[in-house]
Amino acid sequence: MEKNNENNGLDWSNLSFGYMKTDFNVRCAYKDGKWGEVEVSESEYINLHMAATCLHYGQEIFEGLKAFKGKDGKIRIFRLEENAKRIRRSAEGIKMAPLPEEKFREMVEKVVKLNERFIPPYGSGSSLYIRPLEIGISAQVGVKPASEYLFLIFVTPVGPYFKEGFKPTKVAIYREFDRAAPCGTGRWKVGGNYAASLAAGELARQGGYSAVLYLDPKEKKYIDECGPANFFAIKDGKYITPKSGSILPSITNMSLQQIAKDMGLEVECRPVPLEELDTVEEAAECGTAAVAAPISEVHDIDTGKKYVIAKDGQPGLVTTQLYNHLRAIQLGDEPDVHNWVSIID
Ligand SMILES: Cc1ncc(COP(=O)(O)O)c(C=O)c1O
Repeated sequence: MEKNNENNGLDWSNLSFGYMKTDFNVRCAYKDGKWGEVEVSESEYINLHMAATCLHYGQEIFEGLKAFKGKDGKIRIFRLEENAKRIRRSAEGIKMAPLPEEKFREMVEKVVKLNERFIPPYGSGSSLYIRPLEIGISAQVGVKPASEYLFLIFVTPVGPYFKEGFKPTKVAIYREFDRAAPCGTGRWKVGGNYAASLAAGELARQGGYSAVLYLDPKEKKYIDECGPANFFAIKDGKYITPKSGSILPSITNMSLQQIAKDMGLEVECRPVPLEELDTVEEAAECGTAAVAAPISEVHDIDTGKKYVIAKDGQPGLVTTQLYNHLRAIQLGDEPDVHNWVSIID
């Protein structure tokens, strides 16, 4: 497949977080108990059987990671082996065929290289978002796992999360909604979890909140996570983040915990009672999209209680340092001491 080297003439600093067509995607099919060869496609469409298990029983899992262009012009992909592991766990969680991690790497590197002209330049604040997904494709009517699967990866350039600068935003709790059940699929990146989050997400958007803060679905006592992001707080020199069986283990959170330790903070991963928000100095959402997005206030809509965290409306010092460190590692501006970045040439 010929790589197109044309420059795109895109306004790199003003891209949104949306889908834009790129040149190629890569696909790999699982059939007769094994994965086939990786194929390159120019089509944005999938030819799917109407009885495919992904359409009826939600056999769909996905990932999200990013590639960056450094000042040195090199392409850097952040923690791809962690995404490979997580999508394998998601596959095992809902009885899909897990893709070997080496195959994941091969596919990610291939699709990024083939679409190199869509990687935003250093300094634009934008990046290339990589979206791997796997679906059950064999025709079935009974509720059981498919025997055939399709693993596909596409990429799309996305803009900076903080267009108006790195500023704290408000989040809301809607107690009549859960995104996951206590022993359900919240710990895996399964499409159905996101369907379950749409109603509360829309309420939040209409109410002027940046995200929904979910409480633990069993007792509604502890903080779980923040829409498509984990939660952390800073208090007394500690990085505090919820331990819960119903949240997605965020790779950004894992990385920030390490950076926090490197900065001399203590890390506590434990149940975080909602009322503890009254005593934290800083709070933030964390995930691939934003790295860390500071939270100014948490509104518990049903009880009317408001937790004001950023009293001056400014991002906290520690959150800002964590954000800057992680971004610098992703871009190659700071040494990658933990070997998180894959450089591809
Ligand atoms: C539910 C949920 N929690 C947390 C995260 C953050 O995870 P990561 O840092 O790996 O992007 C995501 C995004 O992938 C998510 O969808």
